[in-house]
Amino acid sequence: MFNRRLIAIAVFVFAVFFPFARTGSAHEPITTKVMFNKEIIRILERNCLGCHAPNKIKADIPLTTYEEARPWAKAIKEEVLEKRMMPFQAVKGYGRFQHDYLLTQRDTELLVSWIEGGAPRGDIKDYPKHEIEHLIDGKDWSLGEPDLVLQSEEVKLAAEGDNETRCAVLPTNLKTDRWLTAIDFQPGNGAVVHSASFHLRSTKPIPPTVKMSACEMVGETLGAWVPGQTATRLPAGIGRKLNAGEQIVVQIRYRNSGEAATDRSRVALYFAKEATPKTLRTEAIAAASVTIPANAENHLVKASMLVAQPTEAISIRPLLFPFAKSVEAKAIRPDGSIEVLIVARDYRYDWQPTYFFKTPVQLPRGTRIEVSAYLDNSDNNRNQPNDPPVELKLNQPLCEIALAKSALAKTAQPKKSGLATSLR
Ligand code: HEC
Repeated sequence: MFNRRLIAIAVFVFAVFFPFARTGSAHEPITTKVMFNKEIIRILERNCLGCHAPNKIKADIPLTTYEEARPWAKAIKEEVLEKRMMPFQAVKGYGRFQHDYLLTQRDTELLVSWIEGGAPRGDIKDYPKHEIEHLIDGKDWSLGEPDLVLQSEEVKLAAEGDNETRCAVLPTNLKTDRWLTAIDFQPGNGAVVHSASFHLRSTKPIPPTVKMSACEMVGETLGAWVPGQTATRLPAGIGRKLNAGEQIVVQIRYRNSGEAATDRSRVALYFAKEATPKTLRTEAIAAASVTIPANAENHLVKASMLVAQPTEAISIRPLLFPFAKSVEAKAIRPDGSIEVLIVARDYRYDWQPTYFFKTPVQLPRGTRIEVSAYLDNSDNNRNQPNDPPVELKLNQPLCEIALAKSALAKTAQPKKSGLATSLR
């Protein structure tokens, strides 16, 4: 990859400093009507610039202008045809999602036609300057003006060191209970913010003498953000209750960029006008205390959850980790019918999005959600951190699922027994 980058830069330098080569239609005649400033930039805007732009996670490969994108043309074709970009884990055909983070066939064809046809620039008048500027400065919220914006204190990151996780407790100062319908996130410094998740502050009683870090206060998950992910509103009538005075903990993972950096990220909250009839809760389905022998190449781990009251699944987030080859979740209903919720493959450190179902998935009482993961603890696994591989003991959430249930049903029962989580 590094070499390819050098070659791309070299080609670019050559093209810039040897004008003959640039106009070099003798070598590369223009044989396409597809233009960068017209069709291509709009495809990139929709699918790629959430990561490949200044102040985003792939700021080192920006694709926002012709000059930036042209040297990468060949690499773009390869990435797109190999379906490595945009990064995507959910296998097509299993589960139906609002955003499938996949290039459409038409967009793929346009990209390939542009590249094979000599990658022409087109008329600068067609370039959507305004939209691209907005996307880069990242000040706009895609769902419109939020009801409440919370901002963390400035975080300082050293030049040396590993990727780090930092947490901040953000008071909401709400005077009344509210029902959250969406959460959005804007990294302050998109080049170093790898991902973020939002949680309620844990209400577990702590002795006053114990000092806890913000990361230890992380309670129930409200949602998560990864670069390029589109914020999504919950379906009408579903909200997540935020009690007056309750606090939100934002957990941000930072990527070490090799340079000292600072960040002040923002979290936007959107509320329903009034109490929603259904409340949402995110449950983690975890495999408790499993042992994976060293060198096991295809070790199956299972976890499951029993649905004790009728509910519907709104979103799902497979939590792939370096040892996971795949994670699959399915709902087995009491009538015996089986619905595959998601199949995800190819762990990528850079990309673990939440998938919102196109329509909520009905889960009658007695449904079992079964999650199976295949793990590779051998040295064939390119993410294997141990050399040689060692026996692993895992206590690992395999996926998170957001379930909506009637608020009435919830108050009728003690809080803990709402959903029995049986781990195996
Ligand atoms: C979620 C973030 C994200 C999105 C969206 C994304 N990329 Fe990438 N891209 C990456 C990362 C991270 C890399 C670094 C290599 C890797 O991890 O595979 C990369 C690498 C690349 C490379 C360089 C590959 C090489 O040869 O080194 C190209 C070209 C590329 N992306 C094009 C695209 C295009 C075109 C799109 C849209 C169709 C896109 N990317 C969407 C994150 C993203």
